[in-house]
Amino acid sequence: MKIFEQIESEVQSYARSFPRVFNKAQGEHLYDEDGNRYLDFLAGAGTLNYGHNNPVFKEKLLEYIHSDGITHGLDLHTKAKGEFLEAFNEKILKPRNLDYVMQFTGPTGTNAVEAALKLARNLTGRENVISFTNGFHGVTMGALAATGNSHHRGAAGVSLSGVSRMPYDGYLGDDIDTTVYLDKVLSDSSSGIDKPAAVIVETVQGEGGINAASFEWLQNLDKVCKKHDVLLIVDDIQAGCGRTGTYFSFEEAGIKPDIVTLSKSLGGYGLPFAVVLFRPELDLWKPGEHNGTFRGNNFAFITATAAINSYWSDDSFSKEVKEKGRYISQRLESIVEEYGNGNFTTRGRGMFQGISCVNGELADKITTIAFQNGLMIETSGADGQVVKLLCPLIITMENLAAGIDILESAIRDVCATEDRIPKHKKYFDPISLAS
Ligand SMILES: Cc1ncc(COP(=O)(O)O)c(C=O)c1O
Repeated sequence: MKIFEQIESEVQSYARSFPRVFNKAQGEHLYDEDGNRYLDFLAGAGTLNYGHNNPVFKEKLLEYIHSDGITHGLDLHTKAKGEFLEAFNEKILKPRNLDYVMQFTGPTGTNAVEAALKLARNLTGRENVISFTNGFHGVTMGALAATGNSHHRGAAGVSLSGVSRMPYDGYLGDDIDTTVYLDKVLSDSSSGIDKPAAVIVETVQGEGGINAASFEWLQNLDKVCKKHDVLLIVDDIQAGCGRTGTYFSFEEAGIKPDIVTLSKSLGGYGLPFAVVLFRPELDLWKPGEHNGTFRGNNFAFITATAAINSYWSDDSFSKEVKEKGRYISQRLESIVEEYGNGNFTTRGRGMFQGISCVNGELADKITTIAFQNGLMIETSGADGQVVKLLCPLIITMENLAAGIDILESAIRDVCATEDRIPKHKKYFDPISLAS
């Protein structure tokens, strides 16, 4: 561990929560140097939907490497890229009646977001973009301006401009449809909100605390965008690639965004890869205008194609994810019921769920104990108050149950030792505060 302390920057974050040296991983498990095994409910922050070292993808990748397939090709047409485009078009886009072209960007999610924002701004000639409270879109300047988190924003060192923030679904309470406010400010030339090029939204906010927008809210957002001639960008970098139960997280809402960003699990194997999808009419890019040396990672083309062919040729995987999602919901609801005392609530959808705690301290205690018992699980949200279940989608039911058992027992332990939580009483009980 010494070398990490000696020369790795203080910027490290996940390594602080899981202070071990890991050297092996398979499926839903990670192993440390001492041979300890951990169930992985972090899954590369949503990058390992198909598990670590998926054997089918590994075989394809090894074959490709052995045959001296192209590793780096800038944006050259390669056989690997062609096969990926073919598979994505035939098995993802066409069955969903989505007519999109694909832009390969630099291989991180934030670079895809930069490209999406640039495209929208250049197309409309407008600078302003609407993003939402608790939204997370990456940490390069353009994407960071659209990100809400003050910890990340604070590192920018310059003003983050060109974005207006609107309340996300549920931000003002369950009964308030915040798209009404958006519609109102966009209809009022004196609202002080410049007409935007685009609205950028996550259908389920991952880093912001697993806040799931309702389908109705997403439909209303889509209508407001259309009414005001504003482009709708769905940032599906974390919620996409099957995490919510469908390939794209917006499918069940029945909307078709103008622009979509994808990354994380797109490559299937944890290899860096990011793309932007958009309606063909929006493709006004000039050659190389948004370029990058690592556009299109050929290794990732191989594993991404294998992922599509293995899991998305029919709807059986989608059904399996939804089934596991229902199991997660039931288990989390019963945990909250059993140990909640008002301190916990559930959130999310599909296999993108979490337990929100009254504060980050409580969530931290839970994840620390869980790790001691062999479960890697992280927190998200403004104060790290949400324990975030993000296990690989391919996890066996047995291991899914085992992971949630560890989580439940960590919650039980924390509740037993938290004498600050009076039994059967909420942390913030408005009635007792008033009396
Ligand atoms: C919704 C969303 N957009 C963008 C990003 C940024 O992706 P990256 O970390 O690959 O730059 C993330 C990362 O967590 C994300 O969750």
